[in-house]
Amino acid sequence: MRLGILISGRGSNFEAISNAINKGKLEAEIAIVISNRANAAGLEIARERGIPIRVIPSQGVDREKYDKIVIEELKTHEVELVCLAGFMRLLSASFVQAFPNRVLNIHPSLLPAFPGLDAQKQALEYGVKIAGCTVHFVDEFLDSGPIILQTAVPVLDKDTVESLSARILLQGHLTYWRAIQAISEGLVTVAGRKVLIAEPQLEE
Ligand code: GAR
Repeated sequence: MRLGILISGRGSNFEAISNAINKGKLEAEIAIVISNRANAAGLEIARERGIPIRVIPSQGVDREKYDKIVIEELKTHEVELVCLAGFMRLLSASFVQAFPNRVLNIHPSLLPAFPGLDAQKQALEYGVKIAGCTVHFVDEFLDSGPIILQTAVPVLDKDTVESLSARILLQGHLTYWRAIQAISEGLVTVAGRKVLIAEPQLEE
């Protein structure tokens, strides 16, 4: 499965997906990494690994126009699955329609709790005992599409935003590639809001 990965910054989720591919755990190929910010640290990781990159700056560009350019780039690279990995922009309905049920995102909370920015801070301030991360299909609304996988992370009394974020991030790295692998194996179906993941067939 050919992946297009969209980043805005650090790129640790992209790196974890790339590591899973390199270790042979995830059968996929990263066809292109696109960043909306030229200084995204994740671009350097892609460069070092010889993965094609493209910077498409988003500042001041109308959403529809921007998304059209990104769609074109993804199609040029024959991308089959788009993975948002810390891509801090809402996508237009036309983007989502260009890749129906083929756009994923990772969010650092157990959605539908704490969508949007600073999810880990929101969780700490609310006082939840269990936080976590969610890999979900993307629709045109914020952090709202059907949920594929979630991993829970206990909140500790001594947690700061930094310590909780670090543990959630680590679990996210272990969760994202599994969702991609399930899709690439054809095990995932979407029925309304529900995502069903079939058991893989064991080989004889
Ligand atoms: C991750 O914590 C991810 O869950 C979050 O941005 C960070 C990206 O880190 N995504 C969102 O908040 C999306 N709403 P990374 O650049 O190191 O992958």
